Amino acid sequence: MKLLDIENLTARYNASDVLKGISFSVEEGEIVALLGANGAGKSTTLRAISGLVPHVSGGLRLGDTSLLGLHTEAIVRLGVSHVPEGRRVFPGLTVEENIILGASNRKGLQKAVLMREVDEKFELFPDLVRLRHTLGWKLSGGQLQMVAVARGLMAKPRLLLLDEPSLGLAPIVVQQVFDIVTEIRRQGTTVLLVEQNANIALSIADRGYVLETGKLLVQGTPAELWGNSQIREAYLGGASAA
Ligand SMILES: Nc1ncnc2c1ncn2[C@@H]1O[C@H](COP(=O)(O)OP(=O)(O)O)[C@@H](O)[C@H]1O
Ligand SMILES: [Mg+2]
Repeated sequence: MKLLDIENLTARYNASDVLKGISFSVEEGEIVALLGANGAGKSTTLRAISGLVPHVSGGLRLGDTSLLGLHTEAIVRLGVSHVPEGRRVFPGLTVEENIILGASNRKGLQKAVLMREVDEKFELFPDLVRLRHTLGWKLSGGQLQMVAVARGLMAKPRLLLLDEPSLGLAPIVVQQVFDIVTEIRRQGTTVLLVEQNANIALSIADRGYVLETGKLLVQGTPAELWGNSQIREAYLGGASAA
């Protein structure tokens, strides 16, 4: 079943279109990678889904519900959680407080239920356990990314939008973050993953799309994208996958 269905979507901030009519879908339970160079429109695509771009047109549906024109809060309530580029963890709040903020959209949530879910996030991110009461400004890049993802999950999303989780992280930390993304999907959350790092994204994705200056260039399974020499040279660092 299609969870996210995008048809001929255009988006712009001011005069000119940043997204020039893109169509793609994400099936329930998939990890789909949205790849492309800096400035291609990847973040804008996620922001359009989340209701954060002022001018959007075309088809944009979550299941049977059109998201077009809805406010971000309503979109979150329908089950879309967006972990933006740059992590945006509050430096003056603890790890636990930052994670709890992700549930602020869930009205009437009981404290006991809230804390149980917070505990579940620490199970998913065991590296954060000893940092539970540590302030955000003290965290490393990888730890910040984990807090940002944990916070995003507190909205109990059906669809998790992840924007460049690997940015600026050491390879071993990137691998840890991506292992967790795989586990998040295993636990039932569908993931739309934006990455410039196509290699690592395709190592966990079921399918990928390549965006180039606001248009979708190609789509396919990781093997199909790896098999396309033009795409491989432009986006996948040239060499063939091991
Ligand atoms: N808030 C904004 N206002 C105006 N233009 C923007 C804004 N954000 C992004 N853009 C422009 O939209 C294009 C796509 O940006 P973006 O979606 O951030 O690309 P990507 O995430 O693929 O690097 C770029 O040309 C960028 O300059
Ligand atoms: Mg971006």
